[in-house]
Amino acid sequence: MCNNWHIVRYLSRKLLPAFIFLYSDSFSNRHSVFIVSFFSKMSSVPVKKVPLHLQSSQNRLIIKNGKIVNADGVSDCDIFIEGGVIKEIGRNLIIPGGTRAIDAQGKYIFPGGIDPHTHFKMDFMGTTSADDFYNGTKAAVAGGTTTIIDFVIPEPDQSLIEAYRARRGDADSKVCCDYGLHVVCLNSTDHTKSEMTELTKEQYGVNSFKFFMAYKGALMVSDPDLYVLMEHVRAIGGLAMVHAENGDVIAENEERLLAAGVTGPIGHPLSRQEDVETEAVTRAIMIANQVSCPLYVAHVMCRDAGEAVSRGRSNGNVVFGETLAAGIGSDGTAYTHSCWENAAGHVLGPPIRNEQKALMNFLVQDVFQTTGSDHCVFTKNQKAMGKDNFTLIPNGVNGVEERLALAWQYGVNAGLLDLPRFVQITSTNAAKLFNLYPRKGALAVGSDADIVIWDPKKLQTISASSHHSAGDFNIFEGTQVTGAPQFVLVNGRVCVDDYELKAVEGIGNYVSTSPWASEVYDKVLQREVKLGIKPKSVTSNGAAESVPVPVQVQITEEIQQNSKLVEVDNEPQIGVSSVKKSSIKVANPPGGKSAGGFW
Ligand code: URP
Ligand code: ZN
Ligand code: ZN
Repeated sequence: MCNNWHIVRYLSRKLLPAFIFLYSDSFSNRHSVFIVSFFSKMSSVPVKKVPLHLQSSQNRLIIKNGKIVNADGVSDCDIFIEGGVIKEIGRNLIIPGGTRAIDAQGKYIFPGGIDPHTHFKMDFMGTTSADDFYNGTKAAVAGGTTTIIDFVIPEPDQSLIEAYRARRGDADSKVCCDYGLHVVCLNSTDHTKSEMTELTKEQYGVNSFKFFMAYKGALMVSDPDLYVLMEHVRAIGGLAMVHAENGDVIAENEERLLAAGVTGPIGHPLSRQEDVETEAVTRAIMIANQVSCPLYVAHVMCRDAGEAVSRGRSNGNVVFGETLAAGIGSDGTAYTHSCWENAAGHVLGPPIRNEQKALMNFLVQDVFQTTGSDHCVFTKNQKAMGKDNFTLIPNGVNGVEERLALAWQYGVNAGLLDLPRFVQITSTNAAKLFNLYPRKGALAVGSDADIVIWDPKKLQTISASSHHSAGDFNIFEGTQVTGAPQFVLVNGRVCVDDYELKAVEGIGNYVSTSPWASEVYDKVLQREVKLGIKPKSVTSNGAAESVPVPVQVQITEEIQQNSKLVEVDNEPQIGVSSVKKSSIKVANPPGGKSAGGFW
């Protein structure tokens, strides 16, 4: 059996290009897509790697008469797509015959949504989240999201690289859209640091590491761990992400609430109120600041915590904020709902508060840069694990399908977000922070043809009865939204076709994210130069010097000069084009050394 399988694989690898050549023009779209995906699954030769000269007209598409919305503005242009990428943007384009044309009159054309925060097939709290990478990405595509970034979460003492490989195994053959991975670290040993360094290499393509400040006894790391891990993230050009809630305090509160007889879902928000989140956000920013580490605060769910992010940003810390579809689209009143299933269905950490407007305003004001979904769905049966004890309700809610629609409804339709800002917070900013821009997050020549044609007049009512997640509950049940995707293209393939979902299992790619994102490190370097900070060189196991110098380095004379002043050893230098010499604090200022000497 095994030998036969090898022969089939071998033959399919050899025969695949011939099949595509022979059938692509003569078969109907459906037949050739079937043949290609059948063979590509068996042979693991990805369909999109077919050489350009072998591609047929079915890979060509023109979108006409729409309004293109990018992060920096709106324009009236047509888009020509070929071979999975945007080939031309303009008016009166001359295109090959047989190209499919989509009329986008009266519609907006956005870069495909990027959801930087999902948990598909996540083993968590004694169970596994209900959406695997197929169902999860199918739901994503249905809502206009064409790239998701999920998480590798190792078992205690498991190698990060082993866990990473297992995760790729879960996802690669299942994803209906492109995806990337963040990696969660559970300790700060030299081995972990060395694996983090390794993971930033192209073959793994990880540039972001998440640290949990909650879930005591499971995922939580201590402050000294955070310090060491963040220091290392800075050394390797990564972005630190935090789940910011005070896990020690939550554990105490949970015990007290249970002892007092509070066993229902309301115990969840009571055990982790706003100050529990705000303190952790403030502490994470403080620790990141000690080691000059850029920080991404995931799922900020209340005004006070948002203000902590805002304060950090005003103080010049390199900190970014994400809020959730759940935060802007739901008000948290369900925790007191008389129906246990409904209340438990809303349990996630941090909990939903009645802060929709405040969270949206933080998105408007650029206190927050991104919206995620934190999509981590558990069925009613799974939630029932906590029937007699709220601490056992698996934490997580839906949102990957609804995220764009909710940002549209409560942002654009409410008159708070303009069109470019909508694109920034649903796509471009995530692409920039996780170093996928301009391949993703932009409608530009050369970008992946991940495209949403958005009908601003289409009415939709969100419901578990019509959503595409495997979950049997929807926290936005009954919410009405004016606006929906009419077409969604994933790498040029039409996966929502005139409102009809045609997602294809396994067509997505893993997207490698490299370190030293300029959106992040221009700011970090600028600040370090300005303040005379010399981040600690990490030369032990997992040494920073093994990290390649970033590709986009533009070392100006000024930077070179400034770098000498602060003697940055073993540190890749990122080009910062606008550093003013007058603002530089030198390592030996009059009156003695500045804090820079400490490092
Ligand atoms: O409750 C949540 N957010 N579940 C998913 C895991 C996490 O904390 O991000
Ligand atoms: Zn989290
Ligand atoms: Zn999460």
